[in-house]
Amino acid sequence: MEPAEPAIKRVYIQNFGCQMNEYDVERMVEVLRAKGFESAPSAEDADLIVLNSCSIREKSEHKVASAAGRYKELKERKPGLVLAVGGCVAQQEGDRLLRRLPLADFTFGPDHIPAIPTLLEKFRGERRRFAATDVIDVEDYRFLDADPRPGDVKVTALVTIQKGCDNHCAFCVVPATRGREVSRPAGEVIAEVERFVALGAREVTLIGQNVNSYHAIGTPDGDDFAELLARVCRVDGLERVRFTTSHPHDFTRKVAEAFRDLPKLCSYLHLPVQSGSSRTLKRMVRDYTREEYLAQIDYLRALVPDISLSTDIIVGYPGETDADFAETLSLLERVEYDFIYSFGYSPRPDTPALKLKLCDDVPESVKDERLQIVQELQRGITERRLGRFIGREVEVLVEGESRRNDGAQALCGRARGNEMVNFPLPAGRAPRDFIGRLLPVRVTAARSHTLVGEFAGAGATKRLPVLA
Ligand code: 5AD
Ligand code: SF4
Repeated sequence: MEPAEPAIKRVYIQNFGCQMNEYDVERMVEVLRAKGFESAPSAEDADLIVLNSCSIREKSEHKVASAAGRYKELKERKPGLVLAVGGCVAQQEGDRLLRRLPLADFTFGPDHIPAIPTLLEKFRGERRRFAATDVIDVEDYRFLDADPRPGDVKVTALVTIQKGCDNHCAFCVVPATRGREVSRPAGEVIAEVERFVALGAREVTLIGQNVNSYHAIGTPDGDDFAELLARVCRVDGLERVRFTTSHPHDFTRKVAEAFRDLPKLCSYLHLPVQSGSSRTLKRMVRDYTREEYLAQIDYLRALVPDISLSTDIIVGYPGETDADFAETLSLLERVEYDFIYSFGYSPRPDTPALKLKLCDDVPESVKDERLQIVQELQRGITERRLGRFIGREVEVLVEGESRRNDGAQALCGRARGNEMVNFPLPAGRAPRDFIGRLLPVRVTAARSHTLVGEFAGAGATKRLPVLA
């Protein structure tokens, strides 16, 4: 009789992609831990390696392929080592990914996270490669509750409120990989927020592909997301609430007003515009014009003048002319975002753009040039925006320690507008005295993406909550 293979006990997970993927990795860890797995400190120490893939742009997709390739030698040395590939590429490519990644033992889509231990057993039992990527019907979909351990909970926690997306933005692969939109019941969302808070979290970010179209409450005016925000803000012990990501088409006035009316809702909004040209927006099937978008920003700024804003920009979308691109630049100047994420258009499989025969006709060199122009313009705007804080006192939720260039101990955390702030550890105190607390910090300087400051005085902390 052959000796039994040793039980797999250590897992190493490598993540690619967005916050949704980060959230999924946290759930993978929990699902595997419940079956006796520990996290391995490196791939070398692992018996199971999971790569969580992202397919939003072609570059992201290449990353998982090259990561998988790097495990060739390790797999040869450790014949029992299992390599699994999850995430959006796995979902989208199904069996094709098994052919493209000969080292992958099995692949699984995001809906199959709860089944990872079973999939692993199946692989070890049958010794046959497979793809677990069948789609779960919307009616049958169940969200996996977070099951955090006290030591794992950070000051800020991600809580999912939705999966999938029912929009049809022509460039976007998400509806093809994550499927139809499903909203998580509000009771589950609140219970999960309460669980994180009980274990020390002070801030939550509610995540979904298009949180504004959340619909699991049945409010008379149909604005369930505004109602959910109000309910989450009522959780005792929670100090701050954020959310991401929003589609301007579904962003309502009531949610804009929530920024004014809910003190826990941080004054920061990520509102992806993608392009400043109405002509391009139409071909992107974004369902709003430049003017409508600007009207939303104006409304919001009238309510909350100091709100910090960020956005996503795509350059080199099919048919984008110099004039269209100039409109994107003028929109950036007009809005003055605090921060932007910018990307060159990348054609993706199964997206409406391909079905609409929008061919990728802007040369890569032009995309690169436009990206550089956008980023250069934004550098100056970000600098000005961060500069507005110099001399002001901001409220920082301390997340952890950082090191200054001179080696001195420092603390870091985010201001309400999501700006990262670094400041020296007050003399005679330990970092644990501050982590998880809201502190007043006087800003003394701005770096290219962060602020530098100093603790604004013990007197001010009296009104601040102290961690148990
Ligand atoms: N090409 C380039 N950027 C894309 N994004 C989504 N799909 C593509 C694509 N095919 C960008 C959008 C989106 C962000 C998450 O990624 O700007 O808002
Ligand atoms: Fe993609 Fe548009 Fe849905 Fe965002 S709203 S996930 S860009 S289809």
